[in-house]
Amino acid sequence: LAKLKKKLPLADKSVLVTAGPTYEAIDPVRFIGNHSSGKMGFAIADKFAAMGANVTLIAGPTAQVSKYQNIKRIDVTSAAQMLQQCLLYFKAADACVMCAAVADYTPANVATQKIKKQQGDINIELKKTTDILKTLGEQKTNGQILVGFALETNNEEAHAIEKLKNKNLDLIVLNSLNDSGAGFKTDTNKVTIIDRDLKKTAFTLKSKTEVASDICLKVTELINK
Ligand code: CTP
Ligand code: CA
Repeated sequence: LAKLKKKLPLADKSVLVTAGPTYEAIDPVRFIGNHSSGKMGFAIADKFAAMGANVTLIAGPTAQVSKYQNIKRIDVTSAAQMLQQCLLYFKAADACVMCAAVADYTPANVATQKIKKQQGDINIELKKTTDILKTLGEQKTNGQILVGFALETNNEEAHAIEKLKNKNLDLIVLNSLNDSGAGFKTDTNKVTIIDRDLKKTAFTLKSKTEVASDICLKVTELINK
């Protein structure tokens, strides 16, 4: 078995993957979330595991299950918890793929009791969450490969390139919600991968498993460069 494992392309490499949404509590029964299913991130974690990597998967609330038992899964709920776990595991990672749909805002105060309905309307004050990917981009040391996603509805490539630069990424995976068959609940996705030299690779509509393979192969090329 040891001999077999050595032949795999990512044997002895550690990768960190995040997946799913985050839930930001308003009170004990309510939260702010998003439609992320976790499918894309789990497919990426599975592919890396199949390639022999030592995989840590930090997952927000999701119904997904991993195919490989050698994936170390850490379940989190909020953006703050995801940040904390990412900071713990990033240092040891050769590559990190930040696939999670992290909430950009979180309630400024979490009510300890259920908020009762009032006569009139209600306002919930929100504060910005920490950009996890940007934080990791600032901490990145020589050789570490950092990959982000960009979910866009307009000016897709320009926005993605801005994120690639701002967050000090090696690759950005652009997901356009305008493409039919791409998005949250589907089993398919259509992505464009942009690298640091702004070289673009546009892929056709494929299953999320196949998209995961494309992404993992690009990351592997960079790790072994
Ligand atoms: N991301 C993150 N921490 C956040 C928000 C986003 O790590 N608090 C990461 C996502 O996991 C993704 C990348 O940043 O890999 C881009 O996320 P996206 O929502 O497309 O971009 P934002 O920078 O949040 O900007 P906006 O939502 O305004 O487009
Ligand atoms: Ca965002």
